[in-house]
Amino acid sequence: MTKAPKPPPATVFLFGAHGDLVSRLLVPALYNLRRDGLLCEGLHLVGVDHNAMTDAAFRERLAQGIRARARPGAEGGVEGKRRAKVFDAKMWNPQARRISYLQGDFLDDRTYADIAARIKAAPTGNAVFYLATSPRFFGEVVDRLAAAGLLTESPGVFRRVVIEKPFGSDLKSAQALNARVLRAMCEEQVYRIDHYLGKETVQNILVSRFANGLFEAFWNNHYVDHVQITAAETVGVEQRGDFYEHTGALRDMVPNHLFQLMGLVAMEPPAAFGADAVRAEKAKLIGAIRPQTREEALANSVRGQYRAGTMAGQKVPGYRSEPKVARNSRTETYVALKLMVDNWRWDGVPFYLRTGKRMAVRDTEIAICFKQAPSSLFRDTRVDRLKPNYLTIQIQPDEGMWFDFQAKRPGPAVEIDNVQMGFAYSTFFHMRPSTGYETLIYDCLMGDQTLFQRADNIENGWRAVQPFLDAWREDDTADVQGYKAGSDGPRCADELLARDGRRWHKRD
Ligand code: BG6
Repeated sequence: MTKAPKPPPATVFLFGAHGDLVSRLLVPALYNLRRDGLLCEGLHLVGVDHNAMTDAAFRERLAQGIRARARPGAEGGVEGKRRAKVFDAKMWNPQARRISYLQGDFLDDRTYADIAARIKAAPTGNAVFYLATSPRFFGEVVDRLAAAGLLTESPGVFRRVVIEKPFGSDLKSAQALNARVLRAMCEEQVYRIDHYLGKETVQNILVSRFANGLFEAFWNNHYVDHVQITAAETVGVEQRGDFYEHTGALRDMVPNHLFQLMGLVAMEPPAAFGADAVRAEKAKLIGAIRPQTREEALANSVRGQYRAGTMAGQKVPGYRSEPKVARNSRTETYVALKLMVDNWRWDGVPFYLRTGKRMAVRDTEIAICFKQAPSSLFRDTRVDRLKPNYLTIQIQPDEGMWFDFQAKRPGPAVEIDNVQMGFAYSTFFHMRPSTGYETLIYDCLMGDQTLFQRADNIENGWRAVQPFLDAWREDDTADVQGYKAGSDGPRCADELLARDGRRWHKRD
């Protein structure tokens, strides 16, 4: 196997350097890339934020973030199973020496003059501006970078901007932000990030579908009954109440993460594995989600909000008792949707999506439910009901793929049991500890946009959820359904499927 090449030298400016994302995920990801020999010696990091901090204090803050991930039992890694045992200072120190801090207000032109001076002094003109800031700064920073001439590329010198989520809060704001960003630079310089695309299991969806002759043959409405996409979390909103109150589960998870999963699982085969081909097919698929009238949107959606409950033996508060949450909040912490895709492949196949916080188990999966075999053959046996076959793509935890089918239980009578064939990542591959950001940062430094969202991907996602946002806003009489923390979500979500004669797939 040929080793991946090292990216070219560059200076990465981390806007929002004081924030949680930088120390908890981005810099630990850079640490892992260095551990894997995938960073060059010419990579410089500059943290930009308004707080006063010395270079040494900033480096120490980042080292603490890396150490926290390396600690046994810490969050991250391959679901916390295997992780770097200790922080390897010897390996990291040469990179740490190339980390500095720049105190500056994002809205002050002097900050950009200072950035220009840093680039001038660097051994390379290549620069990546990573906007790990509050979304209200995205447009402001981009405008100022452009005004200072920092986004102008020249032969052999790149200038790229990474923009975190949320990219807009509805279709209109996403379109406005795209227009603003594309006035400042061209699409090839924009890297709109969705960390779900950094997950190995998510990237594997395309490989599983298109590197195997078998799957494609039954990946359509002739064989598939419906598809379920679930992202269930056990965590609550915790300290993010002020962000979450204005966001809610629909905006936070659906047009981005869940649509990434839906796009990859349902798109047509791209002509090549290149950025344009893959992103064009994904955009087409999400663009083919059927628009819904207000009545349809209300009938095809369920909103829930967690109430107090018990998680792993511990009592946990309800959403309305979380810090910075209104006591009468109607923000949803759970959403379930039924969507249809208007194309030849998926005509008549519902896609049921759900995501929620404080659910009984952590489970991100895509369950493809196949049409049932006719049961007439078993009429005179003790078998009263055949179960459908499911192909489950388990994104996290316990990454893998599982196929449920029916087998005869040993014995004289014809009795049938559900059995499973499976592929667990942990059996076949040694997965190194990762934050999920490694591939994305590496790809950005290499100039590969395949795993980043193009403007049309973002806008199609918002366009598809806009009917729900509108219908909910107009329907302010209906309350969100309560569900107990530690449960499977609100009862109406079961009814959403039950009325179609279906039920949610349950992880064994
Ligand atoms: C983030 C959301 O984008 O994704 C969070 O803002 C959510 O609310 C998180 O918890 C889920 O990511 P993961 O990788 O833990 O599934």
